[in-house]
Amino acid sequence: MDVNEVIRVRRSIRKYKVKRIEEEKLFRVLEAGRLSPSAVNKQPWHFIVIMDPEIRRKMKEAYGRSWFYEAPVIIVVCVDPNIAWVRGDGEKFWKVDGAIAMQSMILQATDEDLGTCWIGAFHEAAVKKILKIPPHIRVVAMTPLGYPDEVKEKVTKRKKMEEILHKNKW
Ligand SMILES: Cc1cc2nc3c(=O)[nH]c(=O)nc-3n(C[C@H](O)[C@H](O)[C@H](O)COP(=O)(O)O)c2cc1C
Repeated sequence: MDVNEVIRVRRSIRKYKVKRIEEEKLFRVLEAGRLSPSAVNKQPWHFIVIMDPEIRRKMKEAYGRSWFYEAPVIIVVCVDPNIAWVRGDGEKFWKVDGAIAMQSMILQATDEDLGTCWIGAFHEAAVKKILKIPPHIRVVAMTPLGYPDEVKEKVTKRKKMEEILHKNKW
């Protein structure tokens, strides 16, 4: 797929097949995260890949949907805010960096015919406890990863371009 097609066909998948993910596909997904841009190239991220069924089951405490914790793989994007860039006016970029890495992985996964769903509504304290994440590290996002077991329409509801586009000024 070209980039435009990947962007158009990607949908949040909330039903996964039990089928295992090929190692080379998983590698390319993680590699897309590693190669992502970050402010001042600080690369403040760590990616946790959960395949162990017992740990995935425990992740129920962090986000209680079965399609999430029963997916073959869960990817958790963490960042170290102490490493991430902070702008002169104090604006912190750790969340932006982590979000970009997650989106790169999601797009690569789409190209590999794998489904994902950005999870933001998780209990961070539970994630950190289950995965033994150090106290100073923040969890930005998680996604299940697996072969989709649902077919979704290619285009989902979006605002019209004229509602969001400003030419030359607001
Ligand atoms: C930052 C962010 C957080 C999200 N959190 C959740 C979530 O906790 N649970 C969930 O089911 N979907 C979550 N989503 C998925 C959105 O609901 C979904 O992207 C949106 O409805 C558009 O649908 P689409 O992804 O199929 O195009 C999240 C998406 C983003 C970008």
